[in-house]
Amino acid sequence: MLPILHIEKIDKEIAQWIKREAERQLEGLEMIPSENYVSPAVLEATGSILTNKYSEGYPGKRYYGGNQYVDEVEKIAISRAKKLFGVEYVNVQPYSGSPANLAVYMATCQPGDTIMGLDLTHGGHLTHGWNVSATGIFYKSIPYHVKKDDGRIDFIELENLVLQYKPKLIWVGATAYVYEFPFEQLAEIAQKVDAYLAADIAHIAGLVIAGVHKSPVPYADIITTTTHKTLRGPRGAMIMVTKKGLEKDNFLPEKINKAVFPGLQGGPHENVISAIAVCLKEAESPEFTNYARQVIRNAKRLAEELKSKGFKLVGNGTENHMILVDLTPIFGAGGGYFAQYVLEEAGITVNKNTIPGEPSSPFYPSGIRLGTPAVTTRGMKEKEMIKIADWIAKVIKSVKNYHLPENREEYKIYLENFKKEIKDIEAIKKIKPQIKKLALRFPLFAW
Ligand SMILES: Cc1ncc(COP(=O)(O)O)c(C=O)c1O
Repeated sequence: MLPILHIEKIDKEIAQWIKREAERQLEGLEMIPSENYVSPAVLEATGSILTNKYSEGYPGKRYYGGNQYVDEVEKIAISRAKKLFGVEYVNVQPYSGSPANLAVYMATCQPGDTIMGLDLTHGGHLTHGWNVSATGIFYKSIPYHVKKDDGRIDFIELENLVLQYKPKLIWVGATAYVYEFPFEQLAEIAQKVDAYLAADIAHIAGLVIAGVHKSPVPYADIITTTTHKTLRGPRGAMIMVTKKGLEKDNFLPEKINKAVFPGLQGGPHENVISAIAVCLKEAESPEFTNYARQVIRNAKRLAEELKSKGFKLVGNGTENHMILVDLTPIFGAGGGYFAQYVLEEAGITVNKNTIPGEPSSPFYPSGIRLGTPAVTTRGMKEKEMIKIADWIAKVIKSVKNYHLPENREEYKIYLENFKKEIKDIEAIKKIKPQIKKLALRFPLFAW
């Protein structure tokens, strides 16, 4: 952690919570697949004085004066992203992944147009058209799904829906999908109705750069990504247009620029943009490629170990950085809640997640999602994955007698009691210090 001497002096209240959070990060195992630790260089750039500058507009075309240096920073971020991903155009201004995706809708559709994305309960992101998101409210969203048996995209359903509804925009990408994304098949289907194909590679951007996941560039028209997941940058996002996208619509860059500013945003966060530039510089290095390879090796090893302990995995394993555990054999429907909280009590952070064919609901789902990007950044390897799998198994099995009540009205009290009772489970009291000991052996960021 960078020192917070000034905060400690002027705001003890906030300083204490930052320190507590730093301890939590150091002492626990972060296994939420969308989280990571940034390098000290990325952290410095994020906290730099560039935060002081207003720069509405784009390099060379700003509404405010004094942008000569900020322009250089933004141009460097853009040119690094273009080179690393091999794309024709990049916008680095979106505040985060959700506004980046919304900008794609604004650039390609009119309100009310039909769009398609993977259903949220099948692994898609909120912004791929889920009903409570602006993307499902202002556009007519037709979700596609994965198959219940293996969790792969159901191409037969997808193609039928595409031919029937003729969407303007189709998303490929997900927040919970354990296979390589089938960009090529999606492109073939999108082509049939001349839809734009947008690939949301938020989760896998770092893996794509390192060449350990197929790139969407030859297949998609537009690519969006957050910068804070496997890419190991600050919380931000980028929108890219490929050669294919330009051939389909030469005006896409202009439309996307307009959608981001002034369509959705005001002044870009140039401190974050400088940190994106720094993380892209880091991502060019051979060390980053090794990191991304290790992320996948760790995930595969963790998956094998969990299976050997009797866990049922969606897809029976993983092709990327993420594992989805189907907990229905242990808890019946809705067990993700128990697993998330008991693991957190022990010092392992994961998130409850829906599984294909979810028998419960997104808030009380039946699985958990685990990922290796953050622990790999700390320098952990297969040896540690074996230990982690063992702890996960013991901790989850220590609460196997809990089940969601049949009556929804009983949930609140039952779950509150559960959270109290797990503090007294002997197995957890024993494992918790072991997890802390392992975590403290590794710094937050190691190449
Ligand atoms: C696939 C995907 N797209 C977009 C987003 C949205 O990013 P943000 O949370 O930065 O808005 C996420 C975040 O989890 C994601 O997983």
